[in-house]
Amino acid sequence: MAKKRNIALIGFMGAGKTTVSHGLKEKYGFTEIDTDQEIVKREGRAITEIFATDGETCFRKLEQEEVLRLQDVEGMVISCGGGLVMNPENVANLRKCSTIVFLTATPETALLRVKDSTDRPILNGHMDVDYIRALQEKRWPAYEAAADLRIATDGKDVDTICREIMEAVEAEP
Ligand code: S3P
Repeated sequence: MAKKRNIALIGFMGAGKTTVSHGLKEKYGFTEIDTDQEIVKREGRAITEIFATDGETCFRKLEQEEVLRLQDVEGMVISCGGGLVMNPENVANLRKCSTIVFLTATPETALLRVKDSTDRPILNGHMDVDYIRALQEKRWPAYEAAADLRIATDGKDVDTICREIMEAVEAEP
């Protein structure tokens, strides 16, 4: 890998961060870390439960703490929760240790990928393309601002996406 020590995957829910992270592990030997899973492990409860009991603000605080814990890691693919880079402090901290790769998916693709899941409180009760499009549009500037690289995932298999990521990361100045 080029200059930075890790690859951080960002993007909206259903952009394929978890699947691509598994692909980068299998094909390129990265160690995986998923901010959501770390929070669940540390808290001993599901994300839906954190949202329901303590609210989104509490979850965002836990997310922020998780990013701070990543400062010394190396050789990792860091799969970031979809809202993590809405906080500029998280972006600044991620940037110190990672090349930030923004995975994109159209609202239609994102919906197809998340529609059967019930573990995303932000989308519970809003599993429709209009809601996803509106929230994506609201978040897009933050994703763009955070991204070193941007890779579209629609209609591509995981191997292709991983190859595109690795080529783009290697080509980084
Ligand atoms: C969220 C995305 C989720 C998870 C939480 C909030 C968001 O992660 O962090 O439910 O605000 O977009 P994924 O993007 O991995 O689904």
